[in-house]
Amino acid sequence: MNIIDGKLLAKTIKEEIALEVEKLVNGGNKKPHLAAVLVGDDPASQSYVRSKVRSCEQVGFDSTLVRKEADITESDLLEIIDKLNADDAIDGFIVQLPLPKHINEEKITLAIDPKKDVDGFHPTNFGRMAQGLPCYLPATPFGILQMLKRYDIDVEGKECVVLGRSNIVGSPISILLSRKATPGNATVVLCHSRTKDLAAHTKRADILIVALGKPEFITADMVKEGAVVIDVGINRVDDETAKRGYRLRGDVKYDEVAPKCSYITPVPGGVGPMTVTSLLMNTLKACKGDVYRK
Ligand code: GUN
Repeated sequence: MNIIDGKLLAKTIKEEIALEVEKLVNGGNKKPHLAAVLVGDDPASQSYVRSKVRSCEQVGFDSTLVRKEADITESDLLEIIDKLNADDAIDGFIVQLPLPKHINEEKITLAIDPKKDVDGFHPTNFGRMAQGLPCYLPATPFGILQMLKRYDIDVEGKECVVLGRSNIVGSPISILLSRKATPGNATVVLCHSRTKDLAAHTKRADILIVALGKPEFITADMVKEGAVVIDVGINRVDDETAKRGYRLRGDVKYDEVAPKCSYITPVPGGVGPMTVTSLLMNTLKACKGDVYRK
């Protein structure tokens, strides 16, 4: 069994990005600049955004954090987005989700200029991804592709089962792995809440990607011997013995599933750190005009 060390891989990729930034700046260009909009005080969102801003510093990017109270109106938030769209100093920006209930997330996502949508959430980027055109890939699927690529995990012709059909993980990764590309050319089955006999599918998987948000849902009896298991779940599970009062658990019961796997991602330290790296890679592309000409 091999552990896919997302933390280490993210560190390596960040070092590569930092070198590219150095080259850019030495060539007389400006540093890449990422802005993040954080609304309200959801602890998980705060922690994710903190990590994104810290990572920008680590690789030499400029970053701007726009913090707003949870009671901001939708129109005020749209105004902030318009300003960021028009600001030439900002290469790309994200609006951290989830947003408070009175704000329509779809409307917000649509307001972001696709050229600055380094989260890859805008339908223009999603559509371009589906057609194999240059685009910003959403962070988690991009991170998973990097892991498969850098660990030399062969995907072609393999049975790949994806659990969860969200717009930001399950749906895009199922499209990406079935594309005629590397990594890709897998036979993909996308399972969801209406799937009958889920275990019958998971047991066939050479590569199992789990993005359900259900702590320790996947047990050893649901996994094929020698499978590659990618656990996207980051669940806070109450635990009074833990310093913070909770522990992070994946969607996979790691201790019993890991011994059956050829490769597995741990939680924490697996997919999580890779998502931030993906965002940095997209921001670098935005700065260089690699996806959309400047
Ligand atoms: N909430 C959970 N994941 C993400 C992400 O990748 N981007 C944004 N903007 N919000 C999120």
